[in-house]
Amino acid sequence: FDVVDLIRTKRDGGTLSPEQIRWLISSYTHGGVADEQMSALAMAILIRGMDRQEIAEWTTAMISTGERMNFDALTRADGTRRLTADKHSTGGVGDKLTLPLAPLVASYGVPVPQLSGRGLGHTGGTLDKLEAIPGWRAALSNAEIMQQLDSIGAVVCAAGTGLAPADKKLYALRDVTGTVEAIPLIASSIMSKKIAEGTDALVLDVKVGSGAFMKTQHDAAELARTMVALGTDAGVATTALLTDMSTPLGLTAGNAVEVEESVEVLAGGGPSDVVELTVALAAEMLAAVGLTDVDPAENLRNGHAMDSWRAMIAAQDGDPDAALPQPKYEHTITAAASGTLSRLDAYAVGIAAWRLGAGRGRKEDTVQAAAGVRLHAKPGDTVTAGQPLLTLGTDEDHRLVRAEQAMADAVEITEGPVVVGDLIRGRIT
Ligand code: URA
Repeated sequence: FDVVDLIRTKRDGGTLSPEQIRWLISSYTHGGVADEQMSALAMAILIRGMDRQEIAEWTTAMISTGERMNFDALTRADGTRRLTADKHSTGGVGDKLTLPLAPLVASYGVPVPQLSGRGLGHTGGTLDKLEAIPGWRAALSNAEIMQQLDSIGAVVCAAGTGLAPADKKLYALRDVTGTVEAIPLIASSIMSKKIAEGTDALVLDVKVGSGAFMKTQHDAAELARTMVALGTDAGVATTALLTDMSTPLGLTAGNAVEVEESVEVLAGGGPSDVVELTVALAAEMLAAVGLTDVDPAENLRNGHAMDSWRAMIAAQDGDPDAALPQPKYEHTITAAASGTLSRLDAYAVGIAAWRLGAGRGRKEDTVQAAAGVRLHAKPGDTVTAGQPLLTLGTDEDHRLVRAEQAMADAVEITEGPVVVGDLIRGRIT
């Protein structure tokens, strides 16, 4: 094939054949197709889209550039397979749900292979959060993953570089060419990694709102439908929830602060929105592997999920009892007026946490464990002028000013009561 023909075909609204797609992804991975050609094609895809068959072929081609994991060795005493369940979030602010969710689901005997990433930009990364726990180790070998899945059930660790290497290369290219936002490319990127990971069931938490990739319900629903179709066609029991990301989840955004809040949830407390979504996602994961008759809130109340958490952290060399790092410098932002908090913008809080040092500007940067934002009020709460709304924390005081600037237009207080929208906006199967 001639890659320029493929670019022209897509540019003019045509369809790529399965053979063309397989050739393209393989050639790109091995250097036969240049970055500038792939970026032209990515832009054509962003503008023209791909049909369902093209997206499926694209995803399969990306999977076949790397290794596939396989959990067939996870069996019960009677020899039957233990089905695994995983969750993927499209990314948000204060989205610490993996931390309570993986041990919660594992506490019902369902192995959860949660291969996770780091934050880049305004959304946090699960591994960065867990690394706030002294000693905790993100890198596990495949043998360690299997062993921990078998004995404890919950594993949250770094995804190896062997899964869908084509995606790694393509994602880096999209990041610098304004082509991240193409729904077919996001869907195939996420699902190629999840299908290669080999999970039996998957729940997708597709975020919608200012702090998410997808700003509208319409786009989020289309992304969710595309991913559910890819998973289902690949034999993975896949469902999706559309959830609100117009304001942060819970009362914290950062690293150690999010671990602290997750532990509160595992202890049976914590903010109601984090609990609601953790339980809803757990119910999806458990149902997908056949456990429809359990109440996932039960193991948060009775301590079983906490037992799984402690075992999971200790197995990865972390100390579940260690004190978490606290920031050296803090600054509290107060309410400018009395009334009802009607908006506390997720994107702005994400940027503030990032500027405080919770996230990285370049891949090679390190993050501060103690950096982050604590919220003292959420949309719908009544506030009085002068009361604390949120506290910024960091180990480097020069970061406070820029973080405060990020919050300049992020807060709205109105006089009358406000209607706060539902956290869970839809379910797609
Ligand atoms: N996350 C991914 O893994 N890929 C995308 O394209 C977007 C978000």
